[in-house]
Amino acid sequence: MIAELEKVWAERRSRRAYRPEPVPRETLERVFELAQHAPSWCNIQPWRVCITEPPVTGLLAAELQQAAKSGLPHPEVPFPLDYPTPYKEHRIACGAALYTAMGIARENKAGRYDAWLRNYALFDAPHVAVVACDRRLGPYAYVDVGVWLGYVLTAATALGLDTCAMASVAAYPEALRARLPLDPNDQVLFGIVIGHADEEAPANACRTTREPASKNVRFVST
Ligand SMILES: Cc1cc2nc3c(=O)[nH]c(=O)nc-3n(C[C@H](O)[C@H](O)[C@H](O)COP(=O)(O)O)c2cc1C
Repeated sequence: MIAELEKVWAERRSRRAYRPEPVPRETLERVFELAQHAPSWCNIQPWRVCITEPPVTGLLAAELQQAAKSGLPHPEVPFPLDYPTPYKEHRIACGAALYTAMGIARENKAGRYDAWLRNYALFDAPHVAVVACDRRLGPYAYVDVGVWLGYVLTAATALGLDTCAMASVAAYPEALRARLPLDPNDQVLFGIVIGHADEEAPANACRTTREPASKNVRFVST
């Protein structure tokens, strides 16, 4: 069992260019049914999700791109303003891996802007799941939604789908609220694009690395 789980986790990575064909509704339903196994504190299951299908995904992508071109990001749950060491270095390496894969030089500002804008085109994916959580629960419930996200990404990979979790989707919430039935009590946290990756696209050659667990985890026995 562990070998299969490891295979799925090794296979999963963020894909940032998609083929247009939609995923059958039954397959999407299966992903989200499987992810309902996720634990949450007191079993409150606080994830609230709107999943788009064509043509809505394309309409939303156009509206998000318009919003991204016209103003600064203003997510309902603030993004980090600063990344202290060692997070800063990880973040830089992550960006460098993507821009190298895409052949965009560091000084190519226009190229970087276009690559940034691809987020709001939802990487041409046929589906985006917009994920929110009731603001009355406070930030602790985000832990539960994060656990659930891991289940969604794992289930999608195991079912042969490609994904990218996307904070950027939450950056222009009014575009989401105009298009989707989001509850006024809910705060948008992130999106998850879902589909089949365009394997030829340079962005999908991007690979990230991980520190050994010893950098994150300490055993304490005395
Ligand atoms: C909560 C969350 C938000 C993310 N937001 C974005 C995003 O807005 N745009 C993007 O291209 N990638 C986004 N990512 C993908 C990360 O950059 C990616 O998971 C990380 O670099 C590790 O690479 P991997 O997923 O290929 O293993 C996000 C991932 C998570 C978990």
